[in-house]
Amino acid sequence: MSNNKVLEGMKIPEHVAIIMDGNGRWAKKRMLPRNMGHVQGAKTVEQICEDADSVGIKYLTVYAFSTENWSRPEKEVNAIMKLLRNYLKDCIKRANTNNMKVRVIGERSRLSDDIREKIEELEEASKNNTGLNFTIALNYGSKDEITRAVKRIVRDCVDGITNVEDIDEKMISGYLDTAGIPDPDLLIRTSGEERLSNYLMWQLAYAEFYFTDVLWPDFDKDELIKAIEKYNGRDRRFGGVNEE
Ligand code: IPE
Ligand code: IPE
Ligand code: MG
Repeated sequence: MSNNKVLEGMKIPEHVAIIMDGNGRWAKKRMLPRNMGHVQGAKTVEQICEDADSVGIKYLTVYAFSTENWSRPEKEVNAIMKLLRNYLKDCIKRANTNNMKVRVIGERSRLSDDIREKIEELEEASKNNTGLNFTIALNYGSKDEITRAVKRIVRDCVDGITNVEDIDEKMISGYLDTAGIPDPDLLIRTSGEERLSNYLMWQLAYAEFYFTDVLWPDFDKDELIKAIEKYNGRDRRFGGVNEE
């Protein structure tokens, strides 16, 4: 049994971002079709939301589908989208049971109409919840997000809504999909890969990175606690110096 007691006295990161990787390899190891890895991975997401909340994490942001993932075989993309439909439907109920506020980041126009509607329904239904702030990155790519933000800023300058002189880091953050969400303190990537894959590049500027070989469907509360323990051993200097 996992025990929150081991975290007593530890600093809990306010915002944890996760690159949920390794679903395909998890399935392959079991001679199962890749999609079974995604099915199991979706179950892990549900559980980790409860675990994150129970250890005191306030914001959890997960990478569910990248702008690059469209390049996968059509069969796999369709299976992920089908899974997503069920997941979103289910998430509306769970969000209210668990007092979770859900938000989706990423470019929505490429998603099908019914998925977009479900996202809007989910955000609307959970907007007044006060527990975990759960953000799902869907058709998300950091470069795409920044490009869209730049376009909106330029448009607002041209329309006289804002001025070039007023552009600063805070303002740019406010134009990103993550507006209003504090930057992540800790990034976790599963499955042994050590790269960002176009995830939250602006927002992760000062996050601590934690990589584990555990495949996403096997990630659990004990693994989350391990990541938090490791985070506690890090010296976050933010460019300054810490007195010895
Ligand atoms: C992550 O698992 C899920 C998505 C990217 C949708 P993968 O599907 O990338 O699993 P591996 O990396 O092939 O094992
Ligand atoms: C990153 O995983 C995207 C998600 C977890 C949704 P990928 O498996 O797509 O990343 P690469 O291809 O290994 O960089
Ligand atoms: Mg992968």
